[in-house]
Amino acid sequence: MIDAKTKLCCIIGNPVEHSLSPVLHNTAYRKLGLNYAFLAFRVTDVKAAIAGLRALNAVGIVVTVPHKQEVIKYIDNIDQTAKKIGAVNTIINKNGKLKGSNTDWIGAIKALEEKVRLKDKKVAVLGAGGAARAVIYGLQKRQVKKITIFNRTVSRAKKLIKDLGLTCETDTASLPEIGNSHISPTRWQKIAQQLKNYHIIINTTSVGMQPNHHLSPLVKECINQNHVVYDIVYTPKQTKLLSYAQEMGAKLVFGERMLLHVVKRQFELFTGRKVNIVDMETTLRKFLP
Ligand code: ATR
Repeated sequence: MIDAKTKLCCIIGNPVEHSLSPVLHNTAYRKLGLNYAFLAFRVTDVKAAIAGLRALNAVGIVVTVPHKQEVIKYIDNIDQTAKKIGAVNTIINKNGKLKGSNTDWIGAIKALEEKVRLKDKKVAVLGAGGAARAVIYGLQKRQVKKITIFNRTVSRAKKLIKDLGLTCETDTASLPEIGNSHISPTRWQKIAQQLKNYHIIINTTSVGMQPNHHLSPLVKECINQNHVVYDIVYTPKQTKLLSYAQEMGAKLVFGERMLLHVVKRQFELFTGRKVNIVDMETTLRKFLP
């Protein structure tokens, strides 16, 4: 029951109404008998929101799109990892000081490691935005052999490699604009040829996310049975890209595994208690059929 001692945790983002964090955290609080409550706040004024949450002594704040970079300005310190990735998705209130960290990278990597060992693998990453930064940071930590970033804007991929100071073998390649224009079969053949050399393909672009679930960042001819294909998009659970991967006999990694691992970490940071990922998955299934 919520009472005068209830500890407040929340998520801030915009939009935030689709977020599964409140049900995942609140269900786990109930199961473990913790006097916590987790709310979602749609926020436009990040500075005011952080000041308000600080004043109200919120114990944990999850930060989601589009505030993961901006929020850095308003908190007291951030750890080395969040600094390197350039984004904070988790804030912990330690005696009134707000400390930012990033759990996206570890969530992304844990999900992948459920299916494949990463050391010495060659990885193709689609996309060069904030999500790609977290994923690539993790890949480097796990000592993959090579990372190639395929992006619509190649200059952005080059900048990402420079910013993260990647020490493994790296490369960039061009990915076409998906959805608006016709892409020639020869262009896809070239990309398929390039992708043959990689063990793992990770989609970090938003292509394929609802309501654009009919889109895929690759055609199915780009995928073969030796690939592990990971889509961090989790709405829908089985994206068009993952359906192609299944058709071609590749190994699949679902984006919702990343979501679960990210939330698990945040829960543990906020409460100091462990949470069972199988229980969290059961909760998730009720809300994401
Ligand atoms: P996030 O922080 O969630 O990663 P983002 O920074 O907007 O979001 O990055 C989205 C990624 O998806 C980018 O790599 C983007 O390509 P650009 O860097 O060229 O913008 C990619 N992306 C989004 N829509 C796309 C589309 N229709 N076709 C191809 N790539 C797309």
